[in-house]
This record gives sequence, C-alpha cells and structure tokens, in this order.
Amino acid sequence: MKKIVILVCLLLTVIACKKEQQSTNTLEAKVSELLEKMSLDEKLGQLNLRGTSSRVKGKLSDSLKQAVRDGKIGAFLNVSNTAFVDELQRIAVEESPNKIPLIFARDVIHGYKTLFPIPLGMAASWDAKIAENSSRVAAIEAASFGIRWTFAPMLDIARDSRWGRIAESPGEDPFLASKLSEAYVKGFQGDSLNDPTSLIACAKHFVGYGAAIGGRDYNTVSMNEALLHNVYLPSFKSAVAAGTQTFMTAFNEMNGIPASGDKKMLTEILRHDYGFDGFVVSDWDSVEEMIAHGFAVDDKHAAEISLNAGLNMEMNSKTFEMHAKKLLQEGSITEATIDALVAEILRVKLRMGLFENPYRVDNSDNLYAAAHLQLAKEAVVKSSVLLKNDQNILPLASETNIAVIGPLADKPREQLGTWSFDGDGKYTKTPILAFETENVNYNFVEGLSYSRDKSTQDFSKAVAAAKQADVILFIGGEEAILSGEAHSRAEINLPGAQEQLIKELAKTGKPIVLIIMAGRPITVGNILNDVDAILMTWHPGTMGGPAIHDMIFGKAEPCGRLPVTWPKVAGQSPIYYNHKTTGRPVIPEEFVQMDSIPIGAWQSSLGNTTHYLDIGYLPQYPFGYGLSYTSFEYSNLTLSSNTISENNDITLKVTVKNTGKRTGSDIAQLYVQDVVGRITRPAKELKGYQPVTLKPNEATELTFTLSLEALKYYDNDVVFDVEKGDFNIWVGQNSAAGLMTTIKYE
Ligand code: NOJ
Repeated sequence: MKKIVILVCLLLTVIACKKEQQSTNTLEAKVSELLEKMSLDEKLGQLNLRGTSSRVKGKLSDSLKQAVRDGKIGAFLNVSNTAFVDELQRIAVEESPNKIPLIFARDVIHGYKTLFPIPLGMAASWDAKIAENSSRVAAIEAASFGIRWTFAPMLDIARDSRWGRIAESPGEDPFLASKLSEAYVKGFQGDSLNDPTSLIACAKHFVGYGAAIGGRDYNTVSMNEALLHNVYLPSFKSAVAAGTQTFMTAFNEMNGIPASGDKKMLTEILRHDYGFDGFVVSDWDSVEEMIAHGFAVDDKHAAEISLNAGLNMEMNSKTFEMHAKKLLQEGSITEATIDALVAEILRVKLRMGLFENPYRVDNSDNLYAAAHLQLAKEAVVKSSVLLKNDQNILPLASETNIAVIGPLADKPREQLGTWSFDGDGKYTKTPILAFETENVNYNFVEGLSYSRDKSTQDFSKAVAAAKQADVILFIGGEEAILSGEAHSRAEINLPGAQEQLIKELAKTGKPIVLIIMAGRPITVGNILNDVDAILMTWHPGTMGGPAIHDMIFGKAEPCGRLPVTWPKVAGQSPIYYNHKTTGRPVIPEEFVQMDSIPIGAWQSSLGNTTHYLDIGYLPQYPFGYGLSYTSFEYSNLTLSSNTISENNDITLKVTVKNTGKRTGSDIAQLYVQDVVGRITRPAKELKGYQPVTLKPNEATELTFTLSLEALKYYDNDVVFDVEKGDFNIWVGQNSAAGLMTTIKYE
C-alpha cells in the first residue's frame, strides 16, 4: 500500500513538472516568436516606461498616441484616468506593429482608495497576514483603474528616523522585513498573475537606499559585504522567493556605484545568485542621474552603463530611447543584450495574461467596500503602539468628558500619510468624525491649525476647553508632507508649537493622552513628563478615526510593537537594536552623565564606554516595544537540548501568562546573540516571534524552534556559515527584555 502511495505521488510530481516545463516552453516559444518579428524600434520601446504627472490633467496628445501606435512605449506610470488607460491600451493592442500590450503602473503603496496605515505602521503589526490582505485589497481597487503594476513593496531597511522614507519602510530588522516582503508580494500578485485583479509587485529600492548618510534622502551609501548580505538584502531575497515580477533600482550610489549602473548587483546577485527572472525598472530619472553622480559622462554613456548592467526598463528619462541605436552601431552594446532585456519584459507581460486580456476589468463597486474598510480599521488597531500609559489611564470610561485638542484631530488628508494620491479625503474617517458618530462626550478645540503651526493665538481657547474636561486628548504629530520621499528632518520632535501647547495644557492638571500621527518615530523627551499616555498610530489611513475611538475606549486594544528603535533625540540616529557590541560596550553602573563631570576635570575617558555624555546610551523605546492594556509575565524558559547542530534543531518553550485584568495580546520575541564569530556579530538579532492572546490569569506555553541554519551569517567574503561556540538567547516582550539562556554549537 505504502509503495503504491509513493508511486502515485511520484507520478503526480512528474506530471506537474512536465506541465510546468510545457508551459515554460510555450512561454519561451512565444517570447522568441515575438522577438523575431519585432523591429529594433519596437524592442527599444519595450524598455521605455513613460512617466506622466501623478495628477491627471489635459488630454492625450497625438504624439503620445502615435508613440504607442509605433510601439515605442512599453509601459506607463500614473495614467489613472480610465478613459486614457483604455484608449492607450486599445491603440497598443489594435494598432501597434506586434500588438504588444502596455502595462500601467502606479505607486499603490499602502492602499489605493481605501488607505491602510503607512508601511512603517503596517510593520508595527508584525502581522504578515494583515500585510498580505491589505495589499490584496489595494490590488483589487487599483486594478479597476487599469493599474496592473505597483511600485511596492518598499523593502529598504531603515535605521535612521530622520530619513523621510522610513515611513515607507518595513523598519530596521531584516527578519521582520523579510516576512513582510513575502506577504506584500503575495497580496499584490494574488493567486495567479493573470487574474485581472493581480498587480505585479516591484521590490524597491535595490539596494542600500535606507543607509543614506545622516538620513538625508538620495545620499551616499557605504556598505561592507557582510552588512549588505545580512541586513540590507534579505528582504529583497525574500521578495524573489515569493515571486515578485519586478525590481526597482535605488537612487543612491553604494560604494561608488550608482544602483542603476550596478552590474554586480543587478546581474550577478539578483539574476544569477537569487534566480530572479522578471524585469528591473530604474527609479524616476535615475539612469540620467548617473551624470550628476559623476559616474556617466552624458546620457549616452548613462544608457550604455545601465543597459550593460542589466537594467531592463528606464523610468521617465529617455537615454535608452535616444541613444541605444547609436550604442548598438558603435558596438558598445550588443543586440543580444537588448534581446535579453526585452525578453525579460515580454515574459512578464505574457505571464500577466495581458495578450489575452489586455483591458481592465471594472470592479469599481468594490472601492471602499465594507470589508476593505473593516480590514483597514483592524490594521490601525494592529499597528498602533501604546508607548506610555501611566496609571492605566487608557482605556477611558465611555462617559469621560474629553477635550479634543490638536492639529490632526480632524484632518482627513493628513492622516492618510505619504503616497496617498488616490485616497479621497471625503471617505476618510477622522477621530472627530468617529466621536461624532459614536456620540462621545467631547469638545473640540484645535488649538493649532496644522502641525507646523507656530501661532499661539488659540491656546487660551484650548486651555479653557481643557479646564472643562476630565481628560485632554491631544491629537498631533506630523502632516503627511513631512515624511516620505525627499522629506527628511534633522529634528524629529513634534513640529510647530505643539510642544508649547501641550505644556500649557499640562498646567491645567488634567490628564493628557497624546495620540501621535506621524511618518516616523517622534522624539518626545520635551513633553514626556507632561503627558500621561502616548499612543502612536503612525499615519493611520482611511479608518484612523474609528480605530482610535475603539482603542481609547477599550473596545479594541492597540497591538503594535515598534519595528524601529525610537530615539530620545535625533542626534542619536542612526540607532538600532542589532548593533555591534564594540570593544567598550556600555556598563550602566559606570556611565557618567555630563552634569556629573567635575568642573575643570582632568582629561580622561570617563565611563569608558560607547555612549553620549548628555543623552546616555538608551533609546526612548527599544525595538519590539509596545504596551498592552493588560500585563504579561514570561517564565519557565526551557530548551530541548543545550547543544545545536546541523541535524539537531533546538526547541524552546516559554510560558506566557496574562497577569492583568483584561484579555490582551502580546508578541513574544526570540533574540539570539552569537557571542564570538569569524567577524563580529550583532548584540542581538530577532530570529522568531509569535502573537499570543490571553484572558486574565490565563497562561500558555509557546514553542519556538531554532535551527543551525538560522544562526548562519555572511562574512565579508560572502561565505554563509557559522562557527562553533556559544549563543545567548532571549525570549521576551521586546529587544531589551526577556528571559535568557545559552546554547552551544559543538
Ligand atoms: C521615485 C520614488 O523613489 C519611487 O519609490 C517611486 O516608485 C517613483 N518615484 C515613481 O513614482
């Protein structure tokens, strides 16, 4: 019987492999057939992604239509006017020489119409399923407008909160980022690429963009191989494994080579090592920008570098279109190179089923569907991080008389955050709208009309309202425009006069609950002692208001945990938990604070460790941190064995108990430190996590498995291995807490 089962399984596998082989053969035959028929102009057309303004205006020009008719454009960005989409596609598939369909692209980053929390917020959920479901919703809504390609997920590891694009990132940790990467790709691309609601995903920005010096956007990146492979590449590798069809190169240079001209990254690593078989698009003008980088002499040279590096499609700038022919004539590029680049694009178009079904399927009755809004609300709850909650002031009793104050309490556009071109303010539910709907006992005085507002003229009204209330709910943070691309900040506290207003309000003696809507961690040192609770909702998107309502009244519990280390002051950046230990790790007992240094002190290396004299060595809140409305106790950490080996995974068990009075959720986190390595190793690295929900007094045992593979790492020769020795392990509530044990690899 057993033998028969094995035989049937084998047979089924052979049939499946055969089928796959057949469809690959058919696809390759179609690609070759097309290539054979295509003129050089048409081939170059496929490499051309024509950018248009993100704001729809005017009408389609005759020259643009003619370019499509001549097969000189392969894809468009930002045409979200459906009439234009339909017309351009019709011209491509009916009138162009080989009837090759266009792909329409858009930055559908955290939703299309229904907007979810910004990606950094989604990362705080530590929940791959909700990330996947949110991108599925985004795909369904966007596809209705003909969009079949999104420039997401953004997978840049970000360790510096000054960087505006930290808002779009999956945070600072490669393990968490890789889980999210896979989830986003699955969600956007759906079960089948040729489903009309599937968007092809784009893993961006390849690579190192988040390591820009000083958090200044577009800035220089220096990177060693170990850091690149251990920290910055895993999220991209995971996108390839999940089947992403496209990649986007970054704006930055890394070690002197601009990403759009980096042959080693684009060809050796991405295609050869990772086996990526989709296509790579440049970022907006990034091919041409190699001139400003000082890497290309002129447009022609830039085209030569990028084409030979393995970049398939040029976004917006036209160096390929203008110069590829000449480069071919001169022999600086070969026709075989062009054919290979075109083939990679055609393959994706074929996989998408565009040749059979080029037109969009109108499912616009799905926009803002009730299920989408419900998911968006759930996402806000899952991603909001409770940072402070003195005397358990939250949740509030339902009859509490609240003074709602602050510039973001009723700003539909601002709460959507960066990359929310298509979200409609009129569908956005602000906290004030939610309070109104839910008959909350509140009085609203804005106090400041926008987040950067420095005017104090309405302070007295705000203070008067505060005096009448039981609790002040201050809803502030950053307007949407203060984070995102090119929007780095050197100071990252609450902008404008928000801190000043909070201080005035604090004088009333009323408790203050601060809700921060922002695109990055906001330094709160100046007002930390003035507020009783802090709830970080990031830019929460369409359903921010109802979710905030439910969280502050305890109908829901904020479940987020920080996906980035939260600094005390901007001057601590970059700051991240998985740093190296250094030769002089911090010894808390020896730390000397600046004010304790005697006047006229003789020069000495006071304290002797890696710290700042003024701010110390700790962040405000560590990576992985977040409070609940209840409390948890971790106990009884046990190991299946004290030694790990190639064939002997270790099982860790830990008991988690809800020691508070409410049902609540936590995320149990597993960290490892490789004590001695062939190159130095991080102080801690996340290797696993599990959500857990428990009733009061309920306890459960969680099980984690650790394999030797998970302990391996890359060195500077890009060798992936691990050597024998000790490993410290922690299981707990965040990167600065936990029960500790040690294992050995012998
Ligand atoms: C530039 C940004 O860096 C990239 O992320 C985006 O996808 C493109 N512009 C297109 O809007």
